[in-house]
Amino acid sequence: MSDKQFNVAMVGLGFGAEFIPIYQAHPNGHVAAICQRNEEKLNKCGDQFGIGTRYTKYEDVLADPNVDYVHINSPIDDHARMSIEALKAGKHVMCTVPMGRTIAECEQICDLVEQTGLKYMMAETVVYSREFLFVKELYEKGELGKIQYLAASHPQDMDGWPEYWKRMVPMHYATHVVSPCLGIVDARAEYVSCFGSGTVRDEIAELSGYSQSVQSCHIKFHDSDLSAHIWRFLYDTARQYRESIDVYGTKKSFEWSLVEDKPHVLHTAKKPEKEIAEEIEVPDYAHLLPKEIQRFTLPAEIHDAGHLSFIQGGGHGGSHPHMVHEMLSALLEDRDPWPNAVTAANWTCVGLCAHESAKQGGAIVKLPEFTLKQTVGANG
Ligand SMILES: NC(=O)c1ccc[n+]([C@@H]2O[C@H](COP(=O)([O-])OP(=O)(O)OC[C@H]3O[C@@H](n4cnc5c(N)ncnc54)[C@H](O)[C@@H]3O)[C@@H](O)[C@H]2O)c1
Repeated sequence: MSDKQFNVAMVGLGFGAEFIPIYQAHPNGHVAAICQRNEEKLNKCGDQFGIGTRYTKYEDVLADPNVDYVHINSPIDDHARMSIEALKAGKHVMCTVPMGRTIAECEQICDLVEQTGLKYMMAETVVYSREFLFVKELYEKGELGKIQYLAASHPQDMDGWPEYWKRMVPMHYATHVVSPCLGIVDARAEYVSCFGSGTVRDEIAELSGYSQSVQSCHIKFHDSDLSAHIWRFLYDTARQYRESIDVYGTKKSFEWSLVEDKPHVLHTAKKPEKEIAEEIEVPDYAHLLPKEIQRFTLPAEIHDAGHLSFIQGGGHGGSHPHMVHEMLSALLEDRDPWPNAVTAANWTCVGLCAHESAKQGGAIVKLPEFTLKQTVGANG
């Protein structure tokens, strides 16, 4: 492996701080700078990880010639603006989900990536989780047979999270359910139909501009006989957190457990009825990583396992070191990371189009044309 190192600036140090020790251990990574607005918290983080270059202003990160790329973990409304400014400043971008809040923002990022040749990766945890890697491996080995249907759910009670979540609607944060369905077969979404259900309390309805609690959406895959069902809520529905994927094949099907930390289920066709379903343990995929960061697939190695996303997210399936490794490998090999800008735009726009559909009582809404382009990524 090359010993070339890439200088990353970590922007947003809540969830974002969890990635610092992984970059510091990766042979090709170096945390050149950190950035967040609150100076006291910035210094605490810099002292904890021994990082001297600290910025409270994002524009100062972009002006730093030593920074090769930004890893953005700011609040959702800032993702697209910060990605666009970074690409215009000549920096590669890795950004947490979602890519943006509007189709126009997603298109601008795709255009800038195409014009500049810079890399963009959306840091989607689900498609680097051990469950996704396990099901994808089963599929690629032919053990599932032909995939017939996919489903994913992401119920999450956002009371207790930062206030800006109250201004969100469920499908504007849907990549954790869209990505595993499309990502398994590396397909694009072509159109969606989404229904709203139930109601949220008045405070949430006023802040978000949307009154329904649950959003439930069907996705038609482009150039494929497949469709998938996804659903989400953010407030006022009782359920334990879950980020599930179910994949149904002709030979075998994978179903996520109903309760966190219980075993998932593998169904095998044509067995005696009582033997069809089997509880399984999903293996870890640390062996795919450089040895220096293999330990970070396990929750004990995450520095701040108290972050609410980590507790509710069950450690995000050991995905963090895989995402860091994918971005650094893409830079090293001068190829697109996965998911790249167009894939990220398709996944993000499914949610944006789904919300538009829900507002129209389930009308079919087509994905924008620029998101249908099939580009060759790591899985392509
Ligand atoms: N599984 C996942 O993929 C996952 C899990 C958790 C969080 N996230 C995403 O990560 C992002 C951050 O989540 P969080 O819970 O840490 O949020 P948070 O609000 O706790 O932290 C945001 C951070 O961004 C910084 N920040 C805000 N505006 C800034 C600006 N203009 N310039 C520089 N820094 C700025 C803040 O100082 C803070 O450090 C969110 O977009 C969230 O969606 C993704």
